[in-house]
Amino acid sequence: MKLAIIGTGYVGLVTGACFADVGHQVTCVDNDTQKVALLQAGGIPIYEPGLAELVRKNVAAGRLRFTTSIAEGVAASEIIFIAVPTPPQPDGSVDMSFIEKVAREIAGALTSYKIVVDKSTVPVKTGDKVAETIERYSRSRVDFDVVSNPEFLREGFAVEDLMHPDRIVVGVRSPRPVPAMKAVYAPFQAPIIVTDINSAELIKHASNSFLALKISYINAVSAICEATGANVQQVANGMGLDARIGRRFLNAGLGFGGSCFPKDLSAFIKISEQVGYDFRLLKEVQRINVEQMERFVKKITETLWVLKDKTIGVLGLAFKQNTDDVRSSPAIDLCQRLLGGGARLRVHDPKAMDKARALLPNVTYVDDMNEVAAGCDALVIATEWDEFKQLDLARARDQLSAPILFDGRNLFDPDEMAQLGWIYKSVGR
Ligand code: UGA
Repeated sequence: MKLAIIGTGYVGLVTGACFADVGHQVTCVDNDTQKVALLQAGGIPIYEPGLAELVRKNVAAGRLRFTTSIAEGVAASEIIFIAVPTPPQPDGSVDMSFIEKVAREIAGALTSYKIVVDKSTVPVKTGDKVAETIERYSRSRVDFDVVSNPEFLREGFAVEDLMHPDRIVVGVRSPRPVPAMKAVYAPFQAPIIVTDINSAELIKHASNSFLALKISYINAVSAICEATGANVQQVANGMGLDARIGRRFLNAGLGFGGSCFPKDLSAFIKISEQVGYDFRLLKEVQRINVEQMERFVKKITETLWVLKDKTIGVLGLAFKQNTDDVRSSPAIDLCQRLLGGGARLRVHDPKAMDKARALLPNVTYVDDMNEVAAGCDALVIATEWDEFKQLDLARARDQLSAPILFDGRNLFDPDEMAQLGWIYKSVGR
């Protein structure tokens, strides 16, 4: 099928590349001329495992191309996917200006029946607004359908999640676009759930909020584990074997971050407020997330006694492993708190150092993870990168003024670390 994707961020670019890879003809549109020029020249603006190869392969096969013109994308396609940012505003509500602008531009470019699909995470009832906007700004009375098709991909696993989805949600206002939407997703062999458009929009916010709730729940349990000498990983394993609960998203740590959960929680709380429901449960999820970080910082400051003029090595800056994304990263928050306490930092991340520089200008960036500890008073693990498990612990011990490791991601075994002579503090164990 001929598809246009408007917006080539994490969602749009991965979606476009995967759609092309299963045989669709895809035009990716972005108003950032530099980004489009980079993509046209074979460059990739973000780090996402498997993405560069997928883009290269499908550009070469003539199934994937890039343009700055929405009109060109609309003209070339039967279905137009909107995947532009919906950033948070200071009051927690969602900034819908990018969606509105794109809807107006699509309206101006419509000359025949098209299906306009919203993929961005949006408040419930956005589909109605998009339809109203397209109707209002269309030059002629052209038929169109608006569909909600939320994405559930995780950064760092985006290609895998897109190629092997648990489910596809298609929210519609009429049955007409359903066969075309099913044809788009047929190659992915996942269950397709057709709902009304408001329900589809709510499925996204309700899912992300539930996953954030799951993380805050286990983080709250981790506080009880620390107070009682229990082990949160053993508790999570025991809980997770109950099929009704499941083990995934029960890893205690520094709390959730990234460009989705914090924003989507605030938006869902705001949306609920607007319809007259005080979603106190989700406010508590937010509070536990902040407290989890505060408890970890307290653990560091109490152990080191004085932070001022101490040098701390920090492993991890990305908001989670396998990404270079530092938006709302707990690791960056932690670094800023340590700097605020007067510490000096030596930091390393396998992929996110470039993007971190703007947020953390006054720290020392170290290319080799095994050199971070040099001249430090303690080490901290802030992101769950697998490769940190390969850290040369013997060398780090020699480099540190005292063998202290604060592990915010529970990468090492507490008993083994104690046997190796480390003062090892992790989360909930
Ligand atoms: C999340 C959802 O998982 C996706 O399904 C959704 O499509 C996406 O948001 C979105 O709305 O676009 P993402 O933000 O990429 O994906 O990352 P996650 O893997 O969900 O992790 C979010 C945060 O939770 C990270 O900071 C991670 O370290 C933390 N986390 C995750 C935990 O602390 N513990 C866990 O057990 C799992």
